[in-house]
Formats: sequence, structure tokens, C-alpha cells
Amino acid sequence: MIYGVILAGGIGSRMNSKEKPKQYINIGGKPIILHTIEKFCLCAEFEEILILCPKDWMEYTKGLIRKHIASPDKIRVLEGGATRNETIMNSIAYIETKGNLDEETIIVTHDAVRPFVTYRILQENIKAAKAHGACDTVIPATDTIVESQDSSVISAIPDRSKLYQGQTPQSFKALKLQELYNSLTEDEKNILTDAAKIFVIKGEKVYLVKGETSNIKITYPYDLTVAESLLKGGPAC
Ligand code: CTP
Repeated sequence: MIYGVILAGGIGSRMNSKEKPKQYINIGGKPIILHTIEKFCLCAEFEEILILCPKDWMEYTKGLIRKHIASPDKIRVLEGGATRNETIMNSIAYIETKGNLDEETIIVTHDAVRPFVTYRILQENIKAAKAHGACDTVIPATDTIVESQDSSVISAIPDRSKLYQGQTPQSFKALKLQELYNSLTEDEKNILTDAAKIFVIKGEKVYLVKGETSNIKITYPYDLTVAESLLKGGPAC
């Protein structure tokens, strides 16, 4: 079985939005999270689409879905976790309680705040996760990436042709992800930036899926302007 997993458990501190977490801010006249949910609804492969959000926003999220999504039958709203990876683990725990967690179960995990994910990206994630067990959506790095160990002086300039920028979705065999996560030490958990790193730390292969430059993550207020521009079909400013 394949599950869509939309990660909306954060509060968006860098957005500085006092009123609501950033995933509920409108772009193009409707909440960011609804744009994302609509993209997932286009994929018939999903057994269910799980939306994990802060506890205090669960009723609000359910209300948005009732009001705006034409066929909400496959959508479940669940509580997110304290960290992004804990949110993912909550989705796997839900699948387990349904009795559907086995070696072939796949989760396609995606940031709620990347509303421009495409059908192609979702399909290629499903295909790669089925074939390889783990995949990450990336685009080639465009800027030269400079490393500094002390935030003062350059320590290395890695070869750009081997560097990519990570996006989402990241898709995995769910049981394997759960097992690997549970085998990490607290120190290892603390250095995790994303779920793909769980596989990398454990020496497991994560395959690349081609992303899109338009698959942006809405993080700062400036990104809202870019998103509005993308929706209008104009050049992102
Ligand atoms: N996320 C989540 N559970 C958490 C933290 C984050 O599901 N405990 C989700 C966010 O809701 C978001 C995605 O992970 O859709 C990407 O994370 P990020 O952009 O860092 O979101 P926030 O944590 O909300 O933002 P900030 O770091 O600015 O507080």
C-alpha cells in the first residue's frame, strides 16, 4: 500500500506569522496546505492521504478539508510530532494501528509548505520508492556552495557538479524507515536534518528523483511573494 503523508506539524517560526502557522496562510486566495492537498488528491495510488498538523490546528484543518475538498474520503488528519521526523513516525504509527504496515508499505512524505509539487514528481517518487526503497527529490545546485567550519573563513568549496539541493517528497518503505529511526542514538537523532539522512547515516542507498525549481518551500515572508507570482504564471520575483 502507498500512503501520501503531508507534513504540516510545524509552526513556521521563520515566517513570523503571529496569527497562524504558515501552512494556513493564503496564496492565490486559499491556504497553502490546500494547494498541497489538491496535488496529492490527483494521485489515485494513495490508499489514504495523511495530514499531520499541530494538535490545536486539527479541527481547523478538518474544517478546511470539509469545505474545500470535493472528495475527502481518503484524507485523515492526525497529530504531528515535536520534530519533523517525529511527525513522520506518527504517520507510520497510524499505518501500523490500521494493520497495514508491512515490508511493501510506502510513504510519500512531503512538506505541506511546498504547494507547487507536480504530478510527475509524485509519480516518480512512487516508482523509485517501489523499486529502491528510498528516494529524495532534488535539483542540481545552481550557486557554488561554500563550506565554512567557523562561520568566518572558507574551509572548502565542494565540486558543484556533485551537489544537489534537497526538496520533497522523500519516499520510503515505511517499515524500514521506522526500524532505522528506532535504531538511532539520541546524538544521531539530534543531527538529522531530514528523513533521507536516516538512511544515509545507516549506510542505506537513497535514490534521486528530479525535482523542479518551482517546487519551492515557503519559509520566509519573501517566499509568499514568489509563490503568488508563480501562481500567476509570471516569472518568480
Ligand atoms: N513539520 C512537521 N512537524 C514538525 C516540524 C515541521 O510536520 N514538528 C513540517 C512543517 O509543517 C513544514 C515542513 O515540515 O511543512 C518543513 O519544515 P519547515 O519549513 O522547517 O517548517 P516549520 O518547522 O514550520 O518552520 P520553522 O523552521 O521556520 O519554524
